[in-house]
Amino acid sequence: MASEKRFKPTVLWFTGLSGSGKSTISERVFEILKQQGYEVEHLDGDVIRDIFPKTGFSREERTDHIKRVGYLASRLQTHGVFVIGSFISPYQDARDFVRNLCDDFTEIYISTPLEECERRDVKGLYAKARKGEITQFTGIDDPYEVPEDPELTIDTTNKSVEEAVQEVLDFLSSTSK
Ligand SMILES: Nc1ncnc2c1ncn2[C@@H]1O[C@H](COP(=O)(O)OP(=O)(O)OP(=O)(O)O)[C@@H](O)[C@H]1O
Ligand SMILES: [Mg+2]
Repeated sequence: MASEKRFKPTVLWFTGLSGSGKSTISERVFEILKQQGYEVEHLDGDVIRDIFPKTGFSREERTDHIKRVGYLASRLQTHGVFVIGSFISPYQDARDFVRNLCDDFTEIYISTPLEECERRDVKGLYAKARKGEITQFTGIDDPYEVPEDPELTIDTTNKSVEEAVQEVLDFLSSTSK
């Protein structure tokens, strides 16, 4: 219901390794915000790569991909939409590019360490990367630049999804009047 609205719409940008929890947390935050009456859009890396399957994983291709979706996020924000982005987005300069485009940008670093992400191996991709069946896999043979100054950091290793979601909502409360 519209009367429940209390957060200032921002671009909530989830970054972190594959399997760290970006999509899981952001999908739940999306549902909650929608339920509370916000105009909200969730842009997710896998969904967008499915639509544009030629998007590659070189530094240049990853950067172009993030710049494009970041521009889209900033345009939606201009119209008052609460935007949630979940992308590995491994490069600081690409994330900063998006930050600079957006009126309000909240970088959420899902800092779940590699060993936990690999233990989960939700998509079986870490196993493939270790065997050399896929290359340019972030954390294995491709870099991840840890955010220099994120608004929020969440390590999901010993945390429920609900607890992680609550940390995001608490942050939004703390920055809203
Ligand atoms: N506190 C938590 N928050 C989020 N996910 C958690 C948590 N605890 C365990 N998990 C599990 O970790 C996995 C996270 O996978 P998810 O697909 O969300 O990662 P991702 O960061 O979106 O990865 P990718 O970059 O490959 O899309 C899920 O299986 C989820 O159930
Ligand atoms: Mg995901």
